[in-house]
Amino acid sequence: MKIGLTFDDVLLIPKRSAVVSRQDVSTATLLSRHIPLNIPIVSANMDTVTESRMAIAMARAGGIGVIHRWMSTERQAAEVARVKRAESFVVEKPYALAPSATLGQAQAMMTQHGTGGLLVLHPDGRLAGILTTRDIRFETDPERLVAELMTPRERLVTAPPGTTLEQAMALLHRYKIEKLPLVDADDQVHGLITAKDILKRALHPHASKDNKGRLRVGAAIGVRPGFLDRAAALLAAGADVLVVDIAHGHSENAIRAVGALRQRFGNIEIIAGNVATAQGVRDLVEAGVDAVKVGVGSGSICITRVVTGFGVPQLTAIIECAAAGRELGVPIIADGGIRTSGDIAKALAAGASSVMIGSALAGTQESPGITVIRNGRKYKVSRGMASLSATLSRPAEGPDEEVEEVEWEKVVAEGVEATVPYRGSVDEVLQQFVGGLRSALSYCGALDIAELAKKAEFVQITNAGLRESGPHDVEQL
Ligand code: XMP
Repeated sequence: MKIGLTFDDVLLIPKRSAVVSRQDVSTATLLSRHIPLNIPIVSANMDTVTESRMAIAMARAGGIGVIHRWMSTERQAAEVARVKRAESFVVEKPYALAPSATLGQAQAMMTQHGTGGLLVLHPDGRLAGILTTRDIRFETDPERLVAELMTPRERLVTAPPGTTLEQAMALLHRYKIEKLPLVDADDQVHGLITAKDILKRALHPHASKDNKGRLRVGAAIGVRPGFLDRAAALLAAGADVLVVDIAHGHSENAIRAVGALRQRFGNIEIIAGNVATAQGVRDLVEAGVDAVKVGVGSGSICITRVVTGFGVPQLTAIIECAAAGRELGVPIIADGGIRTSGDIAKALAAGASSVMIGSALAGTQESPGITVIRNGRKYKVSRGMASLSATLSRPAEGPDEEVEEVEWEKVVAEGVEATVPYRGSVDEVLQQFVGGLRSALSYCGALDIAELAKKAEFVQITNAGLRESGPHDVEQL
């Protein structure tokens, strides 16, 4: 029987280093065959971790988020679309309503889409005006018509389709305006440029973006009948990569699903998982994936290993899977069990190209769900997607192809529900993770992640070594 090791079983041995400053190292990597990232961190497709808000923050920081699939196809596609619209310099299909709509309808639309400005269009598509939060701030009558509240067409500055970023910035500056609709000679709208989007671009120079300048985002799908329709909707909404997400990814179901996606959609980016063996990687690569997600039972909220007895300690799983991935030219995503930047460094040193993180990001402001206060401290919830509560709440998401009736007595949960401390913004958490990783690269004398994997040497430690690795023999403040 071989021995399996995980993060706490090992340390990385320091190497002679020519790295002078932590700023000299690069944290760039590949998520999958064709998607580069500037930081090797992916937020998990869990309903307590990644919806559009988290995905936007992750992509701005240079990583990526995978929108979970435990909602209707329509809603998931809308979450993807939100990310794709968050930062592009031209909003191609601005949210719009008719002059005859009411203030109440406009407010509902603003809340639904998380936007502070709506275009107002005549029935024939001509621009009638713009309605922004400034126009309605002190209006109390929800029945008032948008036509009475909007800034009308004759007071709007517009520009023609094809306006460049520089031209748009000059107009926004000259007229001290926030929004610039792009209209043709017939006043038909072709897009919208906003000052906010332009400013946001400058704030996030390392953001993960597609070739149209939109933030990148992934979206999870299952393998039950109907998954191809969900995939089609997510791709139409602009998803950069689909993640075939099932607990036992080394299964005929997953392999068939990947094959069907390839056949139907051709050249799209596909990730699949989760597996824990080299053969699992090979079989998924043969089926046509662009990256493999590794980790069975390694997650903080997983009890798969307790319930089934199956799993491979995560470091061993990464080492074996990464070796197969390297041979086949396919990146590995280490999913589950990451608590610290030291764990990230170990996962990358073991050969993963990126790490997927659940609970360690579930406590941030950008994760879905509310903050609860217990004994004067703030917490958020993290739950396994195979936990009892997650399984039971699925039917409530509405009629959907992947939702099936669940009788709670029959649920065999493979995950738990838990609280995690509130940790502030995801940016702050990522800064700590990435700062620690940069430091790790310098301890290894590595200028980038590929060099870390090449040079890294692990030492297996004992319990005494583990004890020595944390603060010890002091009373912590
Ligand atoms: P962390 O440790 O970052 O792990 O919270 C996140 C990963 O855990 C997996 N996951 C589960 N595994 N039962 C499981 O066995 C579950 O209910 C469950 N929910 C999530 C998943 O791979 C995630 O990315």
